[in-house]
Amino acid sequence: MELLTKKVKGAEDILPADSHKWQFVEELMRDEAEKSGFREIRTPVFEHTVLFNRSVGETTDVVQKEMYTFNTKGGESITLRPEGTAGAARAYLEHAIYNDGLPVKVYYQLTCYRYEKAQAGRQREFHQFGMETYGSADARADAEMICAANGIFDRLGVEDIRLEINSIGCKTCRADYTAALKEYFSANKDELCDTCLSRLERNPMRILDCKNESCKKVAAKAPVVLDYICGDCSAHFEKVKTFLDAADVEYTVNPTIVRGLDYYTRTVFEFVTDSIGAQGTVCGGGRYDGLIEELGGQPTPALGFAMGIERLLLVMKAQNVELPEAPTCDIYIAALGEAAEVKAFKLAQQLRQSSISAEIDIVGRGLRAQMKYANKINAKYSVVIGDDDIKNGSVKVKDMKTGETFDALLDDFVDIFADKFIEYGLGAVSELIGEDSDKLGQALLGSLPHGN
Ligand code: HAM
Repeated sequence: MELLTKKVKGAEDILPADSHKWQFVEELMRDEAEKSGFREIRTPVFEHTVLFNRSVGETTDVVQKEMYTFNTKGGESITLRPEGTAGAARAYLEHAIYNDGLPVKVYYQLTCYRYEKAQAGRQREFHQFGMETYGSADARADAEMICAANGIFDRLGVEDIRLEINSIGCKTCRADYTAALKEYFSANKDELCDTCLSRLERNPMRILDCKNESCKKVAAKAPVVLDYICGDCSAHFEKVKTFLDAADVEYTVNPTIVRGLDYYTRTVFEFVTDSIGAQGTVCGGGRYDGLIEELGGQPTPALGFAMGIERLLLVMKAQNVELPEAPTCDIYIAALGEAAEVKAFKLAQQLRQSSISAEIDIVGRGLRAQMKYANKINAKYSVVIGDDDIKNGSVKVKDMKTGETFDALLDDFVDIFADKFIEYGLGAVSELIGEDSDKLGQALLGSLPHGN
């Protein structure tokens, strides 16, 4: 029985009291992406397992330990996406989006699934916002990408977060580095976990992001990739820095960043904070110039990033970043009597059509209980309609904050109230009441011309 009312470990509910925070953050991210010409892409929650094996990489922690993989009844191996880059790249190729002209710029908001040890900031189902650009090898694309992520933190007012960048070179210069790593880790074999021992031959770079404590210790003293990159990669990295400087984006070069997924080349970056404990990487990304070709496409340089929305909200909470209040009902229409119920229902529909949020009783409460409910939901205004009011054609509007009331004609009520809301916004209407309640009362009564 207990399981019926228990969520699965590592998954979280986003409750009505919190969802407005998510909506606010998501809307801002969308806006930031759209401003730089990115358009939304939505891909399925599952893909063929082979896509992640090939792109994220066979020797990564994600593929080796963390994927939710299952066989369908038809015998296909399917995996719940552990990240968004692979699916977006698959869709880019499958639908030949490159035919629309390069560069192609997309963004996404999606749930991801990784079977990791759940803790603060690390979940098994989590949300990512990500952006990807296909078809540019230019350093300006790297800087544009980093600036977009930075812009999101800036606009949200997140301060205690630092941008760390690195270059991990191209396929060619990686060979020297891989050899150096092999030599170093071979000399420290005894300290490595079994998974890393197998990585030693196949992909020693992956040892650098193993979560095992003993491996982490050894990895901390390993050779750093920046010392091994070729002239072209080095020049590209310098250019990225020039453009970041031009945009006044602060960063530090951290030569130990290699990222945990296999597809990266050249620029990699992370936004890191100390304010949320061990899972301090809020955003990570970089270039992946070989991936599109690896998946069967033409050689196409590409790059992107993803940020974890849970981690972002944790940082915002830890740093007391202000978020908008939850929206509340604009007007509660209480009704007493059968004719009044019909009138209240009609008014509520009309107000909603005019973009004013209106609520009515739908459970059969008495007047007192209706008003109590109006208070409970923090309605900004309330109106009581009795059968007599319908005969008289006039109702009393109450400002629930100040308790002030004023009369309004029922027939014009929606139009005038809606006009005022649209023209001034609700805050201004409240102010008007505060300053001069007669003026608003008159406006609502229709004695002032529309638009005043
Ligand atoms: P990633 O570093 O694996 O990169 O994940 C990006 C972000 O997702 C992390 O910085 C973190 O905020 C969040 N995240 C990852 N795992 C978890 C988890 N278990 N619980 C909560 N949040 C998590 C990628 O996924 C790449 N696809 C990013 C990218 C896009 N690179 C190029 N384009």
